[in-house]
Amino acid sequence: MKTKLLFLLALISISLICCNKQMSDAAQTATEIITESTEVESNDFIESLLAKMTVEEKVGQMTQYTGFFDPTGPVPKDSGQKEKYEAVKSGKVGSMLNVKTVKDVRALQKLAVENSRLGIPLIFGFDVIHGHKIAAPIPLAESASWDLEAIKKSAANAAKEASAVGINWTFAPMVDIGRDARWGRVMEGGGEDPYLGSKIATARVKGFQGDDLSDPTTIAACAKHFAGYGYTEDGRDYNTTDFGISTMYNVVLPPFKAAVDAGVQTFMNGFNDWNGIPVTGNEWLQRDILKGQWGFDGFVVSDWGSIGEMVAHGYAEDNEHAAELAVVAGSDMDMEAYAYQNFLPALVDSNVVDMALLDDAVRRILTVKQRLGLFDDPYLYCDEEREAAMAVSQEVKDDALDIAKKSIVLLKNDDILPLSKSATRVAVIGQLAESKNAALGSWRLGVEDNTAVSVIEGLEPYLGKNMTYQRGVEVYNGTEGFVNELNINFDDESGIREAVSLARSSDIVIVVAGEHGYQSGEGRSRTDIRLPGLQREMLKQLKEANENIVLVVTSGRPLELSWEDENIPAIVQAWQLGTRAGDAIAEVLFGDYNPSGKLPMTFPRNVGQVPAYYGVKSTGRGDAIDLVFWSHYSDMPNSPLYPFGYGLSYTTYEYSKPTITPTTSGASVSVTVTNTGNVDGEEVVQLYIRDKAASVTRPVKELKGFEKVAIKAGGSQTVTFTLGSEELGFFNNDGEYLVEPGEFDVMVGPNCMDTEGGSFILK
Ligand code: NOJ
Repeated sequence: MKTKLLFLLALISISLICCNKQMSDAAQTATEIITESTEVESNDFIESLLAKMTVEEKVGQMTQYTGFFDPTGPVPKDSGQKEKYEAVKSGKVGSMLNVKTVKDVRALQKLAVENSRLGIPLIFGFDVIHGHKIAAPIPLAESASWDLEAIKKSAANAAKEASAVGINWTFAPMVDIGRDARWGRVMEGGGEDPYLGSKIATARVKGFQGDDLSDPTTIAACAKHFAGYGYTEDGRDYNTTDFGISTMYNVVLPPFKAAVDAGVQTFMNGFNDWNGIPVTGNEWLQRDILKGQWGFDGFVVSDWGSIGEMVAHGYAEDNEHAAELAVVAGSDMDMEAYAYQNFLPALVDSNVVDMALLDDAVRRILTVKQRLGLFDDPYLYCDEEREAAMAVSQEVKDDALDIAKKSIVLLKNDDILPLSKSATRVAVIGQLAESKNAALGSWRLGVEDNTAVSVIEGLEPYLGKNMTYQRGVEVYNGTEGFVNELNINFDDESGIREAVSLARSSDIVIVVAGEHGYQSGEGRSRTDIRLPGLQREMLKQLKEANENIVLVVTSGRPLELSWEDENIPAIVQAWQLGTRAGDAIAEVLFGDYNPSGKLPMTFPRNVGQVPAYYGVKSTGRGDAIDLVFWSHYSDMPNSPLYPFGYGLSYTTYEYSKPTITPTTSGASVSVTVTNTGNVDGEEVVQLYIRDKAASVTRPVKELKGFEKVAIKAGGSQTVTFTLGSEELGFFNNDGEYLVEPGEFDVMVGPNCMDTEGGSFILK
């Protein structure tokens, strides 16, 4: 192997010792534990407050309760609520989640500020995942837009809406890399790729937080779930994660680091056990990496009950032990496990936990509250007039439509789309076409039910009485929120006959099929990622009646669409697009918007290929295709159905051969893209590299640049990418960032498979 000169760009003082570190915790002093992390820069106000606090009050700041107020009034109704009410009054609570009106926030804040001894305001957290009152597309859909400005704006709008109802902290963005379509939560992230995921993490954090955190229209963001939750075994939620250090450094951590660089104020850890240590109790992740090397000066909240879950994991002996492990590991706030509240004071009293650890956590929490402006005005986010105005904001609705259109991915088009505006006899089939709920996704806690524009409503202005609807087979029923095998795989065939007869008497058939919003998301993993229930069967019968089918797929994950790809002439991936779903879909179907979305996750040929992702390592057999002895399946090609970065348009683009000019620190790569069709469009030009030989093997392709450009029909646009140390390096297994000289392949194209390029030598 050729010798390479190593450039140590960012020397990161982690060694593999860190992985064994948990064992030596007992012997470490609090000062040692904290000094491994960055000391948070404090100020006189915070220090003097801290100096006045009792241990119970400190633990109070580290405790988060879920909401208990009935929206119709602040008086608690049962004893559990009453206890919470008293706890807030006596300073035993630092934060609430799931409180969602100004009235309730104000009432709770009043209790904390006017009744507790030190009057420290609460911070109000909420899952503001994609919009708040007006639902934006689910995050995976937005990621398909590859439009960072639009994504940032969408997050900023969500912050405006949420802050108008009193919320000042969102549990978003989820930046977990998702490569397993069975996992229901891929819908909440930025997709499979660490480079794209990092750019999206930055855009979302900046969108939520804006430039000034004390501006009452911005809210604190939270990068979650730290770390590795997306690698949940078998795609089953909350399951074990077991993957190597190289993946941790190069795939899982980069979007979290990007969030820190973008100024994210909080982190959430997670439910997963990673390589034998639940991440909630992982000191290496939270103290050494996050608060140490990365200099994160915000705070870490646990996931819901995840401190207590360390007992079930078999890591903590009991809740008391769990509290000790979590605080030592750097979990600053306990969400709903009550472990800190119940055990930390005594643990401090008996010198098992050093007070300095509590001070560090509380300092971080108070600092974020201060940055949010809560000490200057605890009611900063409580403005009833703004709350009323925001709920109907036309601007937010327009932006939700804009990003919904941009999120749609055209997967297949055999000259059937766009539809003619003078089309008559159009059949619209599928229960999902009439739904005003499905497109809102499963994270829509602030959104009113049944407020999405349905596909039928969106098509109405285009088709009016030229459209006839049939519901077809059942996809969801009245128990939408609760999903298990009983209400995902419906087997009642009765709707098929009418649908087929309508198709027979129509010129065009638009079928809306896929998943209801509640069929993906947290706790909604699937082993079968085809269209649920009898939807494929219905399509088969419809095809016998009419070949002119346009399939609109709504889903929160990549579905397996192999049969559909082979048999249906046009397929539009429409995810769950939020409040303006139907409008966006109609504009795309009729060509008022030329689709520009590209897949942020690979669509597999079947579930057996999962986890399917483009950034794989080469096997030792490489591409040497033999009949038997190479890395392949006997029943299916290795390639995906639709690759990462893929998406069609109503126009066509031609790429020039890229020009690669080596520079001292890398290369400059230029490509000219020409719109060779008849309509204007937007194209996402993508650049991939391969480090041919490295001291730690690198993937066969890595996205390292992209630009979304608008190109008029007949026009051209030259895009230039710069490859430097930031793009060409990687982390070795000791966490050192290296850029190694040698040969790099460069590939440019409209998706990860359709590329052209060359190579250069980095000296
Ligand atoms: C559990 C989820 O894993 C997390 O992402 C969410 O923010 C919390 N629940 C709070 O609702």
